[in-house]
Amino acid sequence: MPVYVKWPDRTRQAARTFVESFPGETLYAVKCNSDELVLNCLYDAGVRSFDVASLNEVRHIRNLFPDARLYFMGPVKKRSAIREAYFEHGVRAFVLDMEDELNKILESTDYAEDLHLFVRLALPKSDTATDFSSKFGAAPIVAIDLLKQVARYAYKLGLSFHVGTQCLEPEAYRKAIHLAADVIRSAGVKLDTLDIGGGFPSGMGEGKTPPVDAYMKTIRKALSDNDLSQVHLLSEPGRALVYSAGSTLVKVEARRGHILYLNDGTYGGLFESSASIGITYPAQAFRLNGTFGTKKSEFTLMGPTCDSIDCMAGKYSLPENIAEGDYIAFDMTGAYTEETRTPFNGFSEVREIIQPGIPLRKVERQTKKKLAAV
Ligand SMILES: Cc1ncc(COP(=O)(O)O)c(C=O)c1O
Repeated sequence: MPVYVKWPDRTRQAARTFVESFPGETLYAVKCNSDELVLNCLYDAGVRSFDVASLNEVRHIRNLFPDARLYFMGPVKKRSAIREAYFEHGVRAFVLDMEDELNKILESTDYAEDLHLFVRLALPKSDTATDFSSKFGAAPIVAIDLLKQVARYAYKLGLSFHVGTQCLEPEAYRKAIHLAADVIRSAGVKLDTLDIGGGFPSGMGEGKTPPVDAYMKTIRKALSDNDLSQVHLLSEPGRALVYSAGSTLVKVEARRGHILYLNDGTYGGLFESSASIGITYPAQAFRLNGTFGTKKSEFTLMGPTCDSIDCMAGKYSLPENIAEGDYIAFDMTGAYTEETRTPFNGFSEVREIIQPGIPLRKVERQTKKKLAAV
């Protein structure tokens, strides 16, 4: 079975880096990786606010951290979930992108007078990220109207957006902040909170991911250009905090030419390597007994299920003589990996190992023995 390696030290480090450089309050998007160890590492790194998308996430975080601030940021919520979140778990912040959802929130909280309500703004489609605005968000003209309506009920008024996940262009945040400022001005409301969402990229390899600082600089400038520097600023990163929280070790079950069949794939812990997202993880092959030659070749990697879409996007450069029984370690698999694993075709098992602060090469050596028994 595949082996998932957890890295608490790396998790703390990545979270600290983001929290310290973001000029506002960092909400961790729990959906990205809700593992208890990961959440505790984020808490250690100073994260006290969480973007929760479901009642189960509300309960999970409240149970772990009684002092956490919870923001219910799924735009469509069940009435019973809103009610329990408000009355039993102290949630005051809710997002909405249509009038029906506003009414649902008001009715489910008995027209509470201490609500922190966010209007989610849809953004024009960008080429540099996986688009999120085709599913959620109010078009600017609708958002203007919603902001005016919400202002009548909200104790605190917010506006939010999401530039799309794995956004490789800081410029996308500049454009989104300018659009948000236009919407706020047109609505003529006093905004308390601006939530610039998640989308910060990571794990794309050296030189491919702009540094976090480039994003922060652009964001600060856009806020100041639009007189928004005094507004309370939030972000909802998922990937940027936890991408380095895990590595996934898989076994080669068969080779056909330059196709390798692995014991994990896109229905398992490698969902984001599918064509729809297209992440190519850093990969390293290793062999229990013996060594590889120096020659490398490009391989297509397939998961274990019978479905032909269970195929990893792109080609992986691996030793030419890699064969059945060898292993591949994918690194930077902390975001949207174990969280989205399915039991499709009966491949649900995974072994977990926790590695406190040692490099991957040592993990390979230490896990060889354990892997031999898999
Ligand atoms: C509302 C919301 N906020 C934040 C995130 C986290 O996004 P990312 O992991 O790209 O930072 C998501 C991801 O699905 C989301 O839907």
